[in-house]
Amino acid sequence: MEEKKLLGKPVAEKINSMVGEKVNFLKSKGIEPKLSVVLVGNDPASSVYVGMKEKACIQLGIHSKTYRLPENTSEKDLLDLVQQLNQDAKNHGILVQLPLPKHINEDKIINTINVKKDVDCFHPENVGRIVAGNPYVLPCTPAGIVEILKYYKIETSGSHTVIIGRSNIVGKPMANILMQKAEYANATVTVTHSRTKNISSYTKQADILIAAMGKAKFVTSDMVKEGVVVIDVGINRIDADNEKGYALVGDVDYENVAPKASFITPVPGGVGPMTIAMLMSNTALAAATQNGIKLE
Ligand SMILES: NC(=O)c1ccc[n+]([C@@H]2O[C@H](COP(=O)([O-])OP(=O)(O)OC[C@H]3O[C@@H](n4cnc5c(N)ncnc54)[C@H](OP(=O)(O)O)[C@@H]3O)[C@@H](O)[C@H]2O)c1
Repeated sequence: MEEKKLLGKPVAEKINSMVGEKVNFLKSKGIEPKLSVVLVGNDPASSVYVGMKEKACIQLGIHSKTYRLPENTSEKDLLDLVQQLNQDAKNHGILVQLPLPKHINEDKIINTINVKKDVDCFHPENVGRIVAGNPYVLPCTPAGIVEILKYYKIETSGSHTVIIGRSNIVGKPMANILMQKAEYANATVTVTHSRTKNISSYTKQADILIAAMGKAKFVTSDMVKEGVVVIDVGINRIDADNEKGYALVGDVDYENVAPKASFITPVPGGVGPMTIAMLMSNTALAAATQNGIKLE
């Protein structure tokens, strides 16, 4: 069973080591890659994610600055901060942690981020570049999934890849990336969502199944075919009889689906470790690009 597991840790370590080398190279040219993270409000999960991003920056020698703003920050003040970070030549990446409080228009904020500093790849121009097959950077979670597929030599070309979920963060960009006429893509992609009728009829056809819906253990063994490759993006908290009182599980019923799968990512420990590694990679690339340097 162990050999079936697509663990994210070794893949993230490989990416981190490559990013570390790029950061050192940039520093030798007098460029210190810098990421600015903006957190508005007190959402505990967002606060944890921001802390993890800060820690990753420190580990890789990337300069990081976090702006912790109160919940009642006005849209104008946030826009002003983004503009200020856009203009700061020493700052190469801007990440505004989502979700934002309801009184702030997320699209307006994202659209204001300089496209070259958009390390999350949420700006419409960068999204469009993926669709057109000419990406600047890739959004972090889908990029991490591509790296897992590459690392474990899972062939996407010609596969029927079925995605559950069509969010702007995971499902949609994942579909756009894997359908490209490109290496580690060339998949025939089906995207399913909450309005899809008889979802099993699609998931059962999947050579590669990517579950990104946020519903604990939704994908059961009768929904997949023998030999499927399963990428479980979901992170869900369920009640558990342990010290914490909860456990983290994916969108896939791992115990029952794993015996049928040829490969499967566990939760936690699968896709999870990849997202921040790819953010670091995007920040190094953004720093290089803004200084006219092409990284290998
Ligand atoms: N590992 C990581 O680093 C990482 C990163 C990002 C997200 N995640 C996790 O991945 C999961 C998805 O995140 P997200 O941001 O993409 O979520 P999201 O924005 O809530 O989107 C969920 C998607 O799933 C679809 N969906 C919901 N219920 C469904 C059902 N019963 N049948 C079919 N489709 C259904 C929704 O359909 P509609 O569009 O029709 O509503 C929507 O497209 C979450 O658990 C999140 O915590 C993990």
